[in-house]
Amino acid sequence: MNNPALKFENDTVYILDQTLLPHQKKYIRIQDAEAAFEAIQALRIRGAPAIGIMAAYTMYITARKYKDDDFILFRKKLDHTYHYLIECRPTAVNLAWALNEMRSLFMDESSSSVSETIKAMKIRAISIHKTDAEACRQMGFNGLDILPNPCRIITHCNTGSLATGGWGTAMGVIYAAVEKGWDIHVFVDETRPLGQGGRLTFWELQQNRIPCTLITDSTAAFLMKQKRVNSVIFGADRIVANGDVANKIGSYSLAVAANYHQIPVFVAAPTSTFDRSLENGDMIPIEQRDSKEILQIYGYDNNLFVHNDVYNPAFDITPADLITAIVTERGVIKKPFQKTINQLFKQI
Ligand code: MRU
Repeated sequence: MNNPALKFENDTVYILDQTLLPHQKKYIRIQDAEAAFEAIQALRIRGAPAIGIMAAYTMYITARKYKDDDFILFRKKLDHTYHYLIECRPTAVNLAWALNEMRSLFMDESSSSVSETIKAMKIRAISIHKTDAEACRQMGFNGLDILPNPCRIITHCNTGSLATGGWGTAMGVIYAAVEKGWDIHVFVDETRPLGQGGRLTFWELQQNRIPCTLITDSTAAFLMKQKRVNSVIFGADRIVANGDVANKIGSYSLAVAANYHQIPVFVAAPTSTFDRSLENGDMIPIEQRDSKEILQIYGYDNNLFVHNDVYNPAFDITPADLITAIVTERGVIKKPFQKTINQLFKQI
């Protein structure tokens, strides 16, 4: 893809600073866990799969720093980094998933040496990255089994190359349709308050010459009423055992509006986004973000009001019954999700 969210070159991790997009395209080097933490929290790098990949590389570059320590100290220091990074953003389960993959290597009692463990961690981080890119591609083509053609589709947030290790999840399905020459037009939800749709998806689609129209989030239902769209697709930060989906705030409203207008709602996510340890969406921790993110849109300064009582959840939960199908790299699943999710994981 034109603009990967992160690159691993010459043993060095670079991320595209997404807070500067679409005005400036600048890759910055990430040299330690503190820089990675800051970059993830500030959304310089974002999107569930991308932050998982970032965390995996961060564990590797941190391990490299402790190469001269004995095994006990090495493990202790890395475990500290693991606990530090896992707190970074609570909703996207890919972060914890990738960190646990890396932890299983440095906690492995059968490892012969610190240097062998570091080598294994590098190989694992690269493979998490590569596997995600492959999953995106597979997911993209799997999605074509259920998408209508001609396709007039609304998408929310940013789920493309800026959010993953490949061409994206929901956006991957769109890219697959384009690659197959489908008649497709994408309506891009602006995605308040941080504009992942308006700043990132609208830019990304145009970089790839894909027909698209930017709308405000509140326009989506009206567009449906006008019969100008025939499908909705978004990604996921976590999908739990019953099929409830956590995704960017506004996904739920979109799904409610689509169901009212009898428009199918598709969710695209790799299997690393599933968390079968949680029964339902109410159990998913929802990240609350700073009031400034909303207030800054209006240029308010902090002293203007008696108080700044702002409710700013970064994600919401779409209940499984509002979802038509979930697209994964292993295939497309439909209701009853409790059963089909179990079947999906039995395939391994
Ligand atoms: O807060 P963000 O920008 O990290 O939120 C991202 C999303 O909600 C995406 O839709 C989700 O991570 C799926 S990305 C493939």
